[in-house]
Amino acid sequence: AIPVILDCDPGHDDALAILLAVAHPAIDLRAVATVAGNQTVQKTALNARRMLGLAGAAGVPVAAGCDRPLVAPLEIGDYVHGESGLDGPAFGEPDVPLDPRHGVELIHDTLAAAEEPVTIVAIGPLTNIATLLRRHPGDRERIREIVIMGGSTERGNHTPYAEFNVYADPEAAAEVLGSGVPTTWVGLNVSHQALVTSDVLERISALGTPLARICVELLTFFGSSYHRAWGFPAPPLHDPITVAYLIDPAVLTRVRVGLRIELDGAHTRGATVADLHGRMDWEPNAEVGTVLDKDRFWDLMIGAIDVLGRG
Ligand code: BDR
Ligand code: CA
Repeated sequence: AIPVILDCDPGHDDALAILLAVAHPAIDLRAVATVAGNQTVQKTALNARRMLGLAGAAGVPVAAGCDRPLVAPLEIGDYVHGESGLDGPAFGEPDVPLDPRHGVELIHDTLAAAEEPVTIVAIGPLTNIATLLRRHPGDRERIREIVIMGGSTERGNHTPYAEFNVYADPEAAAEVLGSGVPTTWVGLNVSHQALVTSDVLERISALGTPLARICVELLTFFGSSYHRAWGFPAPPLHDPITVAYLIDPAVLTRVRVGLRIELDGAHTRGATVADLHGRMDWEPNAEVGTVLDKDRFWDLMIGAIDVLGRG
């Protein structure tokens, strides 16, 4: 199995990424760190504990990391994810403890304890990962790859041209991109191919377990946010695509391109600029996702909810 550290800000789609990472035998989930993004870091840590509890993964350490971006002021995604960051279902107290370490140190310790390089899946703003690479530059050798949900080869969501995770901490995204560690980017151009249509919702609902019911409640709330904010007919399930790609790379068609993060644009700060047609003479520096195999993706995601729900 692939050793993985998950850095996240749950968040509805992060919540389902946690389920997929726990459920699938191809992934060996070693630790979960949370970051401020969809909600404050206290709330995202509580939500990660809730989801690990529901997934029956109380043994996976979870810690709260950075509570604000490197440079930018904190802007949270409550207009999508609600007051709790995971609005919709009613949750009880999780039976998963909060690790007392700072999230960045949990990542560092987990890398240090591993006998082989570890893959980091980063599905929130990149503050924790940039901070890790600043504090512990030697950790670069211990990371096999960073798979990121962030950016877009097309337009944005939080602003017309910037996707939320990169917008929230563009300096961190630029540092991670420039770190020399291999990166793979799943942007909105990919995740908008993963719409939770009524067919998908029915398949989950038909599983008939309490966990499936919670997922339907999460996705229904998420869908109403996306409808209100952007007029989407069905919400895009961004974050789990990163995990699905690790499980089965055929899920995602990628191209190797020159990629830059816009830090100065008057109206485009936080946009990712992918030189898809080689117009810029940029050395290719990143793998960028282009096409999602939807059927494979939904089979993996729904299969995970099924397996975990049956205990
Ligand atoms: C990203 O931003 C958050 O709202 C989601 O959890 C996802 O990681 C999509 O832009
Ligand atoms: Ca996220």
